[in-house]
Amino acid sequence: MIEIVPSILSADFARLGEQVREAEAGGAERIQIDVMDGHFVPNITMGPLVVEAVRRVTRLPLEAHLMITNPQEYIETFAQAGADIIIVHQEVCPHLHRVIKQIKAAGKRAGVAINPSTPVFMLKDMLSLLDMVLVMTINPGFGGQELIPETLPKIVELRRMLAERHLSCDIEVDGGISEKTAAQVVKAGANLLVAGSSVYNKKESVAQAIERLRRAATS
Ligand code: DX5
Repeated sequence: MIEIVPSILSADFARLGEQVREAEAGGAERIQIDVMDGHFVPNITMGPLVVEAVRRVTRLPLEAHLMITNPQEYIETFAQAGADIIIVHQEVCPHLHRVIKQIKAAGKRAGVAINPSTPVFMLKDMLSLLDMVLVMTINPGFGGQELIPETLPKIVELRRMLAERHLSCDIEVDGGISEKTAAQVVKAGANLLVAGSSVYNKKESVAQAIERLRRAATS
């Protein structure tokens, strides 16, 4: 089932609660909170305080996308802040198996993200432990970028790997997901579509933007 996952990075932070409620009312199935530390990615955004605040305004599942170094030091913090799914980057987890176990021990669903240059192959032996793989379709750090076409074959390959192993792990994509690209990523095998600037595009209501994206994704 295709899910639309608004990323609050592109929301109006002066009225974040309203923007989250608009996404929920507009039919979003999850909310993604983009945590950045200025080390792993060249931007600094938000932390556990924002997860706590968003937790108070919606019942939707919250994804904490940790674009940070040493994420293993913050699993419990984000779990206690109210994240339901915690996503760490393969590129900063030399002991990824241990971090996945840590997320599950905290009672949360575990996701691993890979950047455009990281082969899907790197996750081959962890797939059976994961609730989700996040295939970044841009270089993480900022919203409003164009989808990198070279990432599409990665989605196809990952979906094939999961099918071969009869695994029901979700494939999430993030970056440049819009009306233009939604059908391509779904055809490639993605079922969770993260969208920031196309949902909070300031030209129409959040509900209209989500509806348009969903229609494009299922067309
Ligand atoms: C960027 C974030 C993405 C971003 C997506 O590093 O991880 O979630 O908000 O933004 P758009 O949908 O505008 O590409």
